[in-house]
Amino acid sequence: MTNERHRGETALVTGANKGIGRQIARRLAAEGMTVYLGARDEGRGREAERALADEGLDVRFVQLDVTVQAQIDATVKRIEAERNRLDVLVNNAGVVVEWGVAVPEVTVEHMRAAFDINVFGTVAVTQACLPLLRRSPAGRVVNMSSPLGSLTFLSDPNHPISTRGLLPYSSSKAALNAITLVYANALREAGIRVNAANPGLVATSLNDRSPFSRGSRTPEEGAEVPVQLALMGPEGPTGDFRGSMDGAVEESVPW
Ligand SMILES: NC(=O)c1ccc[n+]([C@@H]2O[C@H](COP(=O)([O-])OP(=O)(O)OC[C@H]3O[C@@H](n4cnc5c(N)ncnc54)[C@H](OP(=O)(O)O)[C@@H]3O)[C@@H](O)[C@H]2O)c1
Repeated sequence: MTNERHRGETALVTGANKGIGRQIARRLAAEGMTVYLGARDEGRGREAERALADEGLDVRFVQLDVTVQAQIDATVKRIEAERNRLDVLVNNAGVVVEWGVAVPEVTVEHMRAAFDINVFGTVAVTQACLPLLRRSPAGRVVNMSSPLGSLTFLSDPNHPISTRGLLPYSSSKAALNAITLVYANALREAGIRVNAANPGLVATSLNDRSPFSRGSRTPEEGAEVPVQLALMGPEGPTGDFRGSMDGAVEESVPW
């Protein structure tokens, strides 16, 4: 059953073949949006597209590795041809590359691998989508961040986050937080709202090799905060980092 409020709107979700991203795509499509489901692997993307289409949702697979500019350009071209504008961009694709690697063992290759996807991929997709987002009456960008990127938590020796020692992941999400704020400030006058989302600790494959808790929240629960940010009207926030560990969208995470 779809909700009419967002019918006619168009969304792009990166890394949407599984985990939180797949649930975000599902929820936005259930609101009546046409959702482009980005996946870097064609087989995994088509499987997700089929499963969501079987629920009666308008979900369209696009092959989108966020590190491949030609795929980003082709995605934007297709959305422009089919929909002419973009209302929601969810930069969800993300990786942890350093499970089991102690901080002194982290190399610049680990850093590059994390930044390529979590940071440069997000900027590349956002930059390419901006012309289409500007055509929306109320464009929304949601960046999937993490409290592991919070400088407030990292600088508090009594906070558990400060003991995690995830150099590539924490620094890439901290960079993503700054990127969120700079875009929010630059795009405020254009009416495009840019926010970061904390989904909470969610049991997905991202955390499979975590030596800490894998998380108890489901991907459906993890999708709640980014979906709420993606659905907010012009009265909604911009330049905010929303979502408590148990998914309260009203709460902000300290930068
Ligand atoms: N799980 C948590 O507790 C948690 C907490 C805070 C923030 N987050 C953030 O939430 C987002 C989603 O994570 P998740 O937990 O749902 O993890 P997940 O189940 O591992 O899903 C990650 C998604 O990103 C995709 N991806 C990886 N590299 C990509 C690339 N180069 N181009 C395009 N897609 C790529 C993966 O595709 P493949 O299937 O092809 O690998 C997958 O679809 C991430 O940004 C993560 O940092 C998660």
